[in-house]
Amino acid sequence: MLSSLAETRARARALLPPEVWDYYEAGSGEEVTLGEAEDSWRSYRLRPRVLRDVSRVDLTTRLLGTDLASPFVVAPMAFHALAHPDGECATVRGAGDAGCLTVLSTRSSRTVEDVATAATGPWWFQAYLMRDRGLTEALVQRAAAAGATAVVLTVDTPYVGRKDKVSGVRFAVPDDEYLVNLAQHLVPGAVGRESAEQDPSMTPDVVARLAEVAGLPVLVKGVLRGDEAQRCVDAGAAGVVVSNHGGRQLDRALSSAHALPDVLDAVQGKVPVLVDGGIRSGTDALVALALGADAVLVGRPVLWALAADGAAGVASALDDLAGHLRHVLAVAGAARIADLDPSMVSGPLGRSPLRVT
Ligand code: FNR
Repeated sequence: MLSSLAETRARARALLPPEVWDYYEAGSGEEVTLGEAEDSWRSYRLRPRVLRDVSRVDLTTRLLGTDLASPFVVAPMAFHALAHPDGECATVRGAGDAGCLTVLSTRSSRTVEDVATAATGPWWFQAYLMRDRGLTEALVQRAAAAGATAVVLTVDTPYVGRKDKVSGVRFAVPDDEYLVNLAQHLVPGAVGRESAEQDPSMTPDVVARLAEVAGLPVLVKGVLRGDEAQRCVDAGAAGVVVSNHGGRQLDRALSSAHALPDVLDAVQGKVPVLVDGGIRSGTDALVALALGADAVLVGRPVLWALAADGAAGVASALDDLAGHLRHVLAVAGAARIADLDPSMVSGPLGRSPLRVT
C-alpha cells in the first residue's frame, strides 16, 4: 500500500467510531476473499520496457465518451455521511478536483440532486434492483436528470453478504441516512427498508430495461467470470466491472486481480472493462491497466481519506495514486496508458493464470 494511504488509513481509524470503522472495513464470512485482494495484485511481476522517451507521462483516458485526467475511479460505497458530515457531496467534489470520475451508490446518504450540485467532475449512478422495481426506476431517472452519465448495475448482491463484524445490533444505519434518496417515492405506510432491499429474482433483461428507463448506458458490476461477462454484454451491458464487492459478498470468491484476464479474454474489447478490489498503489493500477482494464475503481481508501480530511482528503488521496502511477509508468517504460499491454505482465506467481477451456 502507498505509504500516504497507510497514514490516512491510520488517521481514519483513530477518528471514526469503532462500529463505523468495522462496517467500512468488514468482509463477509471468514474474510478469505478480503484478505487476498491486495496480495493478488502483488502476485504479478512486470516486464519493463527500456529506452523509451518517458520524460512526459500522460495519464489521460477516455471512458464511454468522457475524458478523464486519471484512470482512478471512486467506487460506489454506501453511507459516506458516517465518515464526514458532507457525505457524498464532499467525496464527489474531492474526486472531481482530482480529475476523477465518481460512481455514486444507491445507498448514498445525500440526495442525488445535492451530490449533482456539489460535483466538480463527471459521475455515474450505481443501481441496485430493489424489490420495489419502481423505486430503482425512479432513482435512475432522477440520477439521469441530475447529470449522471451512466448507470452501474450491481449484480453480485442478491442478498447482502453476512459480515460477522457488523452483525447483530452493534451497528445500524439510521433511517434518515438509509432512505435519503427513497423517502419521497415511498407510498404512505410502505416499509421503506423492505421495499429497498435487493430483488434476488433479477435476470439479464434488467440491463436493457434500465438503459431504456434512464436513457443512459448501463454497466454491470460484480462479474468474476468470462462467460458471465459475455452474458452481460449479450444483454446490452455497455461495460463490465470485475469485482467481488471488496470481499463483502461471496467469501472465497476469486480475487478480481486473478479473474480479470478471463473476463478480458471473453469481452475482447467489445465494451470497457473496469476492475476493483484491493487497489492501493499506482503499481496495482499499472498491473490492471497492462492486463487490459480500462480503469480501476478505488473503494475503502476514499472513505479513509474522506474521514481524515473531507473533500481535500479525497482529492489528495486520488492525486497521490495518480502521482504514483505516473512514476511507475515512467519507470516501466510507458509514456501513456495506451503504451501498456499484457506482455508487460508476468504471472500471477504461485498459480497458473486462470484459463477456462
Ligand atoms: C461497498 N461496495 C459497494 N458496491 C456497490 O456496488 N454498491 C454499494 O452501495 C457498495 N457499498 C459499499 C460499502 C462499503 C463500506 C464498502 C467498503 C464497499 C463495494 C465497492 O464498490 C467496491 O467494489 C469495493 O469496495 C472495492 O474494493 P476496495 O477498493 O474497497 O478494496
